[in-house]
Amino acid sequence: MNKSLDKFLNTILEGDCVTNLALIPDNSIDLIFADPPYWMQTEGELLRTNGAKFNGVEDHWDKFNTYKEYDEFSEKWLKECRRILKPNGSIWVIGSFQNIYRLGYIMQNLGFWILNDIIWSKPNAVPNFGGTRYQNSHETLLWCCPSQKSKYTFNYKTMKHLNGDKQDKSVWDISICIGGERLKDESGKKAHSTQKPEKLLYKAILSTTQPNDIVLDPFFGSGTTGAVAKRLSRNYIGIEMEQKYIEAAKKRIEEVKIENTDLHNLSLEVKPPRVNTKQLIDSGYLKNGESLYNKKGEFIGNLISNGYVNDGTDILSIHKMSAKHLNLPNNNGWDYFFYKRGNEFVPISNLRYEYSEKQNEQ
Ligand SMILES: C[S@@+](CC[C@H](N)C(=O)[O-])C[C@H]1O[C@@H](n2cnc3c(N)ncnc32)[C@H](O)[C@@H]1O
Repeated sequence: MNKSLDKFLNTILEGDCVTNLALIPDNSIDLIFADPPYWMQTEGELLRTNGAKFNGVEDHWDKFNTYKEYDEFSEKWLKECRRILKPNGSIWVIGSFQNIYRLGYIMQNLGFWILNDIIWSKPNAVPNFGGTRYQNSHETLLWCCPSQKSKYTFNYKTMKHLNGDKQDKSVWDISICIGGERLKDESGKKAHSTQKPEKLLYKAILSTTQPNDIVLDPFFGSGTTGAVAKRLSRNYIGIEMEQKYIEAAKKRIEEVKIENTDLHNLSLEVKPPRVNTKQLIDSGYLKNGESLYNKKGEFIGNLISNGYVNDGTDILSIHKMSAKHLNLPNNNGWDYFFYKRGNEFVPISNLRYEYSEKQNEQ
């Protein structure tokens, strides 16, 4: 880890993000999560259907005068983000229809490579009170790496597991932040007008970091990024210009409990040991001629001494043989074949781990 970064770890830097980003060394950050001003351009009061005032985003930090001013500011902080990101790091930028197209255009011009645009779909979005447009029920997150060549982190298996063992998609249904999770000030009002739900940050951070990585948020607000990073045993660096938000974020993060679970430590991402079926035969884990079955217990073929499978018609590798029987172009044979011990069918994949553990002991 870069030594000059140590003093910033798990702290919040107060002040303008462009000035503070300049303090961060080149190529030192694993992940950036940025939730910049939207420049909502809301004029006048928004009224609920019962006539009550709706409190949207009217904060002074969301005010700009021209698109040129907004774009110049965006380009400055995004340029700094690209400088501080590790070559294999990545960045999430969230925005609404008012700003996300401008941000995406600037990011592509700076050389960022877009990996996904995620739709954060809000089942409990604020209605369009006047009935003058469709209800605006989503925001967009751009997930990008610094260049097309970046070997970014994506914890595919972890996210698939969390999605009921189905490949996760680019539309995320997550409620806006309400109830106990919403920070309140002393008068009981929302402490921050745009506090993001922790579930959103949980998915972004868990999918694109390793434990102990450094996650930087240049628009820290109420500290959602820091709270989730701590919970997942990742380091955070926040930048925020409003003292009142910094205080709220510090208090919030202090109360967060670290969840040091196998899932958060990415146990599902561990690559299986590199072992082949011939090694398993040569070391006696499987027999020459061993009968192999599919998961239904149907006989498929016999292993031969070079580790291939003979099904009576073809002699193929475990991968090609499994693909043939599944009618697929490719398949991983380790996930397909079982052998029999007594009355039990056992996945051949288990033997890879036993074999490599034994090798490591010797
Ligand atoms: C959209 S909010 C971020 C909310 C945050 N994601 C959360 O969950 O609470 C943007 C934040 O950026 C801060 N901000 C705006 N301009 C800034 C700047 N130039 N430098 C640092 N912070 C800034 C605002 O004070 C505000 O808290």
